[in-house]
Amino acid sequence: MDITEVEQLMATQRAVRRFRDEPVEDATIERVLAAATRAPSARNIQPWRFVVVRDPETKGRLGEIFDELGQQMYGPNAPDHDHWRDVPVLVVVCAEMVFGRDAGGESALAASVYPAVQNLLLAAHAIGLGTVLTTRWKRREAELRPLLRLPENVSVLAIVPMGWPDRAYGKNRRAPVAGVISRERFGTPWR
Ligand SMILES: Cc1cc2nc3c(=O)[nH]c(=O)nc-3n(C[C@H](O)[C@H](O)[C@H](O)COP(=O)(O)O)c2cc1C
Repeated sequence: MDITEVEQLMATQRAVRRFRDEPVEDATIERVLAAATRAPSARNIQPWRFVVVRDPETKGRLGEIFDELGQQMYGPNAPDHDHWRDVPVLVVVCAEMVFGRDAGGESALAASVYPAVQNLLLAAHAIGLGTVLTTRWKRREAELRPLLRLPENVSVLAIVPMGWPDRAYGKNRRAPVAGVISRERFGTPWR
């Protein structure tokens, strides 16, 4: 395996919020989600569950909730008002609540699902699909439950809109790595 290709994949993985009006086949989605499930999890418990949503009504309702949450968080100028009804696929990333419902359980669960989410983003990008991770759902989870028929023991962690990107995206912008590494003690420069 060529690390340069892996680095290139990671450096060009972007938040894509606009998509072409072209379908994404089931087989393609399954391939992306198979890659997601290769992720590590605590005790290899694999708590991730995915709901693939194509139904325009459901996507539209989720979009309304997303926008309402955006307005609460950022005011009327919420930056990411999107047309979720028209996004080809929404992947709802859920988790079986296997670690208990206290704060410790919730963070253990999240820690065991987000590696799979990152795999999902990278695998989708490798195929040429665009994605954007959204995580603001907790506050409205009660409304998502009947919409997605979630059982009691399953929670929503994220929703990832997915489709063929509207345009070519360049490299992502990240701070130089040396600035976030310390040598031996926090704050001692790496080089
Ligand atoms: C935890 C998390 C939550 C995010 N939530 C949103 C979101 O609600 N809406 C959105 O448009 N992008 C969301 N993003 C995408 C980030 O805004 C995006 O990755 C970041 O601005 C860097 O852009 P880039 O990935 O294109 O380089 C989220 C990313 C993460 C990791």
